[in-house]
Amino acid sequence: NTPLREYTAKLGKNIGLALGTYRYDCSRDDGETGIAGREFDMLVGENEMKFDATEPNRGEFNFGGSDAVMWVADRFNQEVRGHTLAWHQQVAKWVSEDGKKNNNNFSRRELLDILKNHIFTVVGKYKGRIREWDVCNEVLDDDQSIVRTNPNAYKLRPSIWATYIGEEFIDSAFVWAHQADPQAKLYINDYGVEFMGNTKTEAYHNLIKRLKKSRLPIDGCGLQCHLTTGQLDTLKLEKNIKRYAELGMNCIITELDIALANPYAENALDIQAKEYGAITRVFLRNDNCPSMLVWGVSDNHSWRKNNPLLFDKNLKAKPAYYNVHAQL
Ligand code: XIL
Repeated sequence: NTPLREYTAKLGKNIGLALGTYRYDCSRDDGETGIAGREFDMLVGENEMKFDATEPNRGEFNFGGSDAVMWVADRFNQEVRGHTLAWHQQVAKWVSEDGKKNNNNFSRRELLDILKNHIFTVVGKYKGRIREWDVCNEVLDDDQSIVRTNPNAYKLRPSIWATYIGEEFIDSAFVWAHQADPQAKLYINDYGVEFMGNTKTEAYHNLIKRLKKSRLPIDGCGLQCHLTTGQLDTLKLEKNIKRYAELGMNCIITELDIALANPYAENALDIQAKEYGAITRVFLRNDNCPSMLVWGVSDNHSWRKNNPLLFDKNLKAKPAYYNVHAQL
């Protein structure tokens, strides 16, 4: 069976995955790490490059996990996506108890300094070695009903950064990341922004248009694609991806998984396979979609329930895997 990465490489694209270092088992070829190395040529640390992992104490950086990601990627000759710099979750406790509260009473100036130092140190550490960074993750509020009355609007989610710095944290984060590694491609990433027409999808497009207009160094946007069977609308997904090409931007699939809708249909695995196949075709036929990444290897170790990944609990390839393969 030819690995997925061999096909996508011929098309100049990458097929990737998230792998947590807790799954690293390089002593055997048939474990999750072995599958990851054989099938995929792009790697993202599932948690290893997040704020709480890399700067657990103020000014004290821990690159143990992120170095392990780099090590695995080197060993398997994989590109690396860095994930993520400014997010409201998995923020170190010393910054904010819950990613939202300013329980340490930092001033705006201090928070800017904290974010700046974090970005310069982490991005600088891997300068030239990480192909692209998710600079900002999930900055949009889930409620974007505001676009119904104002078609160019968007609303930020409350977070330690958005509430206590203001929207400028986004602009600054992109500028700092670019200064720290001018070669790295810079992305914004979010969920619920996959299908054209949905209010959050429109808000995402509005925010990104604003960032482009402000001439920020932003190369693309990520659609996480944490889906459940029955949700995929291929046409709306493709329309959405295409309009980012008009902005001169990439639009990639960053965290794909498709959980089986509950209760399971008799042919649930085939439905899942069909949807994985359909997304793969969208990925393949759009030039501004150079990569597609799944969020984990097997149903054994997914952050979600209901068997959303390409390999089952025994690490056997599922119909979904074979149908991705069949499109290549
Ligand atoms: C998840 C990881 O998979 C879990 O291990 C962790 O406990 C929580 O975060 N969107 C993102 C990812 O951008 O960082 C999240 O990863 C899943 C949702």
